[in-house]
Amino acid sequence: MAIPWSEADFGRAEKAAAFRVIRSGWLTQGKETELFEKELARYLGVDYAVVTNSGTSALIASLLSHGIGPGDEVIVPTYTFIATVNSVLAIGAKPILADSHRDYFDITPDTCERLITKRTRAIMPVDVMGMPIDVVGFRKLCRKYKLALIEDGAQAIGAEYKGRKIGSWGHSTIFSFHMAKVVTAVEGGCVVTNNKRVADGVRMIRNHGRLEFYQPRKHGTEYNFEGFGLNFRINDVLSAIGRVQLAKVNRALAHRKRLVAFYKKELANLFEFQKIPEYVTVHANMIFAILCPKGRRDYINQKLFDAGVQTRITWPCVHRQKWHRLYFGNVSLPSAEEISDRILSIPIGNKISLDQARRVVKVLRQSLL
Ligand SMILES: Cc1ncc(COP(=O)(O)O)c(C=O)c1O
Repeated sequence: MAIPWSEADFGRAEKAAAFRVIRSGWLTQGKETELFEKELARYLGVDYAVVTNSGTSALIASLLSHGIGPGDEVIVPTYTFIATVNSVLAIGAKPILADSHRDYFDITPDTCERLITKRTRAIMPVDVMGMPIDVVGFRKLCRKYKLALIEDGAQAIGAEYKGRKIGSWGHSTIFSFHMAKVVTAVEGGCVVTNNKRVADGVRMIRNHGRLEFYQPRKHGTEYNFEGFGLNFRINDVLSAIGRVQLAKVNRALAHRKRLVAFYKKELANLFEFQKIPEYVTVHANMIFAILCPKGRRDYINQKLFDAGVQTRITWPCVHRQKWHRLYFGNVSLPSAEEISDRILSIPIGNKISLDQARRVVKVLRQSLL
């Protein structure tokens, strides 16, 4: 049987939650979303959590809520899922691509400092594969230059930096609840912050410019809007699923930790992995990847494919994507390029079993013979 790259742990409780909402008659953003937000804020230890319909819309809403727009520069990694960069492009600002740390795969305060200009307004580092960025380093840098820090923690719910959760530090952090994530609502996203102004901005932007949360069956609602906005609303069916999933987050993190420990033990000396700095107390392990020997990735990937093991190449650098190559021109970001050329993500997920991981290891070993 084929082994999926990722599999969510969806059971009776998720189905029951979805049906409960469908039966209630109120399906769009409402009570369940409000509860999901409260539970997220409590779990993370942050003042405000605003749930949206994707991690991408959470990124766009955060940028807009921080007042960033045309003419502004935002520093982002090139080694990331494309949404990080596209969200900056979507609001008409200019993404400035930073190279990655060769061992940690994320961008660092040092690399970013060199890219700051008079136009820089924000830095958007990514918790790559669920590993926290250097939170304190980035907070200091952003304070020094008066920049917004918007952490793309799409993959990192549950991760901890120096014993404190990603998302609890006060600056804006976004999460994604896409199907492959540690906590999923099928699709969905969230902005968390301790800044009321930013949280209110995101609330308005997600609902066409209206701050008001929801009004079940209020008579004669006037179509008045207080600000600019779009439709980034989640619906209550998905929020209800997200709530069930959030309640299982510790189990999911522990399961992924076991899988990663197994992979690392079995594949040590054969492949390199993302290195873990000492400030990381919990890695969310949303993705687990191996760095293949130079020039061997495609062959190894083919062997896994032939054996029915799904993989992903996370990620080709953004500046090498077809459309983005035209936008960014001929840039060279050597560490990110090297990681991209050698990376291969292998199966991990809340429902990937140790037995499946054993089969993946066997194929990987054979691919090196
Ligand atoms: C680093 C990163 N940023 C942003 C996103 C976008 O999230 P979504 O797919 O929920 O829009 C993802 C999704 O995988 C991601 O991995």
